[in-house]
Amino acid sequence: MNKLIVLIIILLATNHLQAQQYDTIWLSSLDISKATLGWGKAGADVSCMGNPISLNGVIYKKGFGTHASSVLYLKLAGGSAKFHAIAGIDDEEKASSGSAVFKIYGNHGLLWQSAVLRSGGAGAAVDINISAIDTLILCTETTADGPNYDHTDWADAYFLVKGRQPISIDRPMEPGVIMTPAAPLSPRINGPKIYGARPGNNFLFRIAATGERPMTFSANGLPAGLKLDSHTGIIHGKINTAGTCVVMLTARNNKGNISRKLTLVCGDQIALTPPLGWNSWNCFAGAVDQQKVKAAADAMVNSGLADHGWSYINIDDCWMVKPDSKDSILGGEVRDANDNMNTNKKFPDMKVLTDYVHGLGLKTGIYSGPGPKTCAGFTACYQHEEKDAKRFAEWGFDYLKYDWCDYERIAKDHSLPELKKPYLVMKDALGKAQRDIVYSLCQYGMGDVWEWGAEAGGNCWRTTGDITDDWTSMETIGFGQAGHEVFAGPGHWNDPDMLVVGKVGWGPELHPTRLTPNEQYTHISLWSLLASPLLIGCDMTQLDEFTYSLLTNDEVLDINQDPLGKQASRMVQNGSLEIWAKDLEDGSKAIGLFNRGLFPAQVTVSWGDLKLSGTYTVRNVWAQSDEGRFDKEYSAPVPAHGVKLLRIYR
Ligand code: GAL
Repeated sequence: MNKLIVLIIILLATNHLQAQQYDTIWLSSLDISKATLGWGKAGADVSCMGNPISLNGVIYKKGFGTHASSVLYLKLAGGSAKFHAIAGIDDEEKASSGSAVFKIYGNHGLLWQSAVLRSGGAGAAVDINISAIDTLILCTETTADGPNYDHTDWADAYFLVKGRQPISIDRPMEPGVIMTPAAPLSPRINGPKIYGARPGNNFLFRIAATGERPMTFSANGLPAGLKLDSHTGIIHGKINTAGTCVVMLTARNNKGNISRKLTLVCGDQIALTPPLGWNSWNCFAGAVDQQKVKAAADAMVNSGLADHGWSYINIDDCWMVKPDSKDSILGGEVRDANDNMNTNKKFPDMKVLTDYVHGLGLKTGIYSGPGPKTCAGFTACYQHEEKDAKRFAEWGFDYLKYDWCDYERIAKDHSLPELKKPYLVMKDALGKAQRDIVYSLCQYGMGDVWEWGAEAGGNCWRTTGDITDDWTSMETIGFGQAGHEVFAGPGHWNDPDMLVVGKVGWGPELHPTRLTPNEQYTHISLWSLLASPLLIGCDMTQLDEFTYSLLTNDEVLDINQDPLGKQASRMVQNGSLEIWAKDLEDGSKAIGLFNRGLFPAQVTVSWGDLKLSGTYTVRNVWAQSDEGRFDKEYSAPVPAHGVKLLRIYR
């Protein structure tokens, strides 16, 4: 036999042998439902929208369809030799502007990273040796243009395996360590230090105080027209003349007494600090009813949350009649003979409900919108604005969330005058209603609402779409607030949507938040730094200890409620590490050291980054303890997706 033929036979045989030694395991054959995605559904051999995987005109039979930001953890245990895939943005968003970066980590190190890949562009081939890898992490990350249209595919993705087969695993979840110290038994006064009310309108303020009960209260320097119930700490009445006064509040119990100043500003402005409360949507959505709202109010008081300053109980969508509904509970006449809006049968008596909530010293809110219907298809205010504002005021509501939604059918376009119009109409209607009603604009940030929300009468305005209880949603929304700080201040706040800690679920079924404990610390710390309205989104009748600790740290809440009313700015952005800082009234600064990455990291803030110099006392805000005096800088380990929240003093 000729030598060449012999060589070819040997080569073929070896190749055959090698091919036999490795199994091809398609990534899509594993349980990819363990992946976390920014949107859509993890697709086995399909995109996140369920279409065939298509990159740059090429259809792939196999692959894993995701949406940035996405993460999938895999356990290889050293059994896989190679990973292959073509990474790219699916053609289903070719006409849009999706862009993302793909990353692969192995044993805590970055193994591979794509360039920024864009809709309609070529995919990036990845072929990496993973024979020494125990845990492999496949990630896709959004870029500066945000998560929209980032339909990220790992096309043609497979492992060459010899021995241990790869399996997908849950992302690691650290235990929820409670950092908030328990409040002492001696009295402590919490909540806002400044409060705005309008002359001639009903006034209600519950002194928030922790400590052993019974407790008695006094208030020195209350303006004429206001009365304090010394047992409940509830102040009510009417202030008839505009002006500012400083009231000295005192709380007393068997363990001692404490006094604290409250500045009362009677004028045009309300919501001088961001509203603190609860809203029914993130837990109950359409399953809300009068009993649940009453139970929420009871829980806010009985759990002790109200003693930390939480005060609004807000009903979201689905309390009104649903036009044309055959459901005997939701359907019926949408308005009465006098054109007043009716409630559906789940809310038999709004006045009884608001009286109940007010009786506890809490305030209460309602939801509607400028369109003919709400988002969930219930009656809204279109062409009845004045009547409805009057009705909301007569019922006794203190907060109105006004949601664009169905007004989309009415608006001619998204020009600024069209975007502003319905909000100005309701502003005027509320102006005639003679009640202090916090006006919350909800239109998801259209037309850069932060630039004109205050002018449209808004005390706060949603800057984004709806939040959900996952890391991508929360981090994209929260960290996406950078730059909006110049538009926030006392009486007018940016609102990055409600909180997603505790048991949420958009009703009727609830589940514990899918945020990890560290992500929850990030959520509450960031929203506090952002001076955002804080609306609890969970079922308060089912508060666990950890969630309670997140919502009752007075030093954290003080950052949110600081009378200066500044929103934090991003001072440093270094890959996944960020430093945010907020100026506070007493000259100190609140600082968040954030780690948006998948692995723990050391984060260092230099005073120079904050335009400061010299020596500062650094306080660990969650632990409520000082860490010492630090010259020039402070450095601390920060867990994955976690935060270290500080306050620094001269
Ligand atoms: C959305 C709004 C949510 C919730 C919902 C009710 O538009 O952003 O926060 O209010 O409507 O249908």
